[in-house]
Amino acid sequence: MLTEGLRAEVARLKAERDAAVLAHYYVPPEVQELADHVGDSFALARLAATLPCRTLVFAGVRFMAESAKLLSPDKTVLMPDPAADCPMAHMVRHETVVAARARYGDDLAVACYVNSTAEAKSWSDVCVTSSNAVRIVRALPQKNVLFIPDRHLGSYVARQVGEKNVLLNDGCCPIHQAISADEVRALKEAFPEAPVLAHPECGPEVMALADVAGSTSQIIEAAVAGTARDYIVLTVDGVRGELERRCAGTDKRFHFPATRPACPDMDRITAERLVACLREGTGEVGLPPVEVADGARAALTRMLELGAR
Ligand code: 13P
Ligand code: SF4
Repeated sequence: MLTEGLRAEVARLKAERDAAVLAHYYVPPEVQELADHVGDSFALARLAATLPCRTLVFAGVRFMAESAKLLSPDKTVLMPDPAADCPMAHMVRHETVVAARARYGDDLAVACYVNSTAEAKSWSDVCVTSSNAVRIVRALPQKNVLFIPDRHLGSYVARQVGEKNVLLNDGCCPIHQAISADEVRALKEAFPEAPVLAHPECGPEVMALADVAGSTSQIIEAAVAGTARDYIVLTVDGVRGELERRCAGTDKRFHFPATRPACPDMDRITAERLVACLREGTGEVGLPPVEVADGARAALTRMLELGAR
């Protein structure tokens, strides 16, 4: 529970540092409340590239803060807990990319989900997020597309873009992967009229049961725009706050898997750590070596150019 004193301290520290706090929908609700902007990965990357402030405090995991620094290298980028790191970001090896390039030559593009290290981005032609992956892969001139690191988002894209030969890499999000088709079927039995809104990091058996597939923002927008009363929501429980806020005054109800998907890395971003980071200026995110930074920035910039929703 946030006190008025804490809110006032955050406002004062933000003004002192000329800082904006960007928060992902998965961080704890009280951190979302203290943020200037809350969004999905794509919206936050776009904001990071354009906000006029001197300091960005990234309430999210490392790849998000790293992307902000790459897109705004002159800004100071701080993380409330630098140990918050998405495990999937590390699930791709350079040899996989080298082997695919050797096999397909110029007729291969490497599409890299933003949930990845700066190194992986630098091996790639373009970045994508869950909100724009289908559109960007479809727009690529090459026939063959190596999708890294997420095999589930990659296979979802492959099913949507049948004209491409999408090559998959063996990475995934352990949290979305753990959502089982059996528990989704049980939810559908309990709420037969409820649309199933799923993040495409879920496995193919789960995605086959989905009515809407999309990023966290797209899931929220679908529920806000929907006419149903009940919704089955297949992503991290952190989106619940925004769903309930946006749907306040309606009788809409949101049903998550009984296991309540939570991301332990996003949960590291507590209000106390956010305040300490603003107060002390700790958790600064630096730039990677210049050849990595240049390659990663080029892939991110291409996404921003192609990905406008
Ligand atoms: P979004 O692209 O929906 O923000 O998702 C990011 C993420 O980490 C999903 O697990
Ligand atoms: Fe990474 Fe999954 Fe957490 Fe998203 S929910 S940050 S993909 S571990």
